[in-house]
Amino acid sequence: MRKFFLTAALSLGVVTAAPAMASEGGHIKRLDWPQDGIFGTYDRASLQRGLQVYQQVCASCHGLKRVAFRTLTDLGFTMDQVKKIAAEYEFEDGPDEEGEMFTRPGAPYDYFPSPFPNEKAAAAANGGAVPPDLSLIVKARRGREDYVYSILTGYEEAPDGFTVPEGGHYNSAFPGNVIAMPPPLSEDAVEYADGTPATVEQMAKDVVNFLSWAAEPKMEERKRIGLRVVIFLVILIGLLYGIYRRVWARVDH
Ligand code: HEC
Repeated sequence: MRKFFLTAALSLGVVTAAPAMASEGGHIKRLDWPQDGIFGTYDRASLQRGLQVYQQVCASCHGLKRVAFRTLTDLGFTMDQVKKIAAEYEFEDGPDEEGEMFTRPGAPYDYFPSPFPNEKAAAAANGGAVPPDLSLIVKARRGREDYVYSILTGYEEAPDGFTVPEGGHYNSAFPGNVIAMPPPLSEDAVEYADGTPATVEQMAKDVVNFLSWAAEPKMEERKRIGLRVVIFLVILIGLLYGIYRRVWARVDH
């Protein structure tokens, strides 16, 4: 009996401690994303800009190993454009006839290469923190797009009395408020091909949209199928109701 009370008290403690732990998480901004909701679709122009931000800013530290170049046709690129994008990267291949490994330009069937050969090298280059692969980051974090956007736009002056440890950066969205990633975005860090002004907020939105697509490239298809299933069910219910009425029409109530 005593054991029971002890466990009950303990679990109560855990339950009441939970909100306190949650408040240690950072401040998350809420935005409307084009892919939200049952009719939401990706904004192709934003995805293309986001790819540019990923390539020119994030790719020096973060891999995207689950995304194949060929899938970039989803973003509205032609296969020829995809081939050009892939060919900007080099891959080791082989062995050839002489048993030697060789490098060749990337092809649509390749996946985005990771910037570091292994986790140890990644940690060594980043003061001990490993930059995570970004392929699934939007789905892997609570708060999804809002969370990643808030991290990218959450670099601020630390409040008075808050000491930021060496190699850390104050970030209002990151749990614990100290992140090892230096602020990756600054005004005009990229020059957009379509002329959109490259503010920090704009680049953050675009790269988050792109990473959202990377994490769930089949999202639009899933919604389309879901919608068709619902329409089918509505028609089926209508038909069944009609049949029901006919079958019982000649029966006196
Ligand atoms: C100079 C290297 C560097 C660059 C450039 C960089 N990052 Fe990071 N990033 C890191 C490191 C290191 C971490 C791990 C931080 C930690 O654990 O404290 C990280 C962590 C993250 C996280 C994970 C936060 C979490 O919840 O774990 C996200 C999301 C992220 N980066 C997105 C981006 C995006 C998007 C870009 C491009 C706009 C970018 N990063 C550019 C080094 C970098």
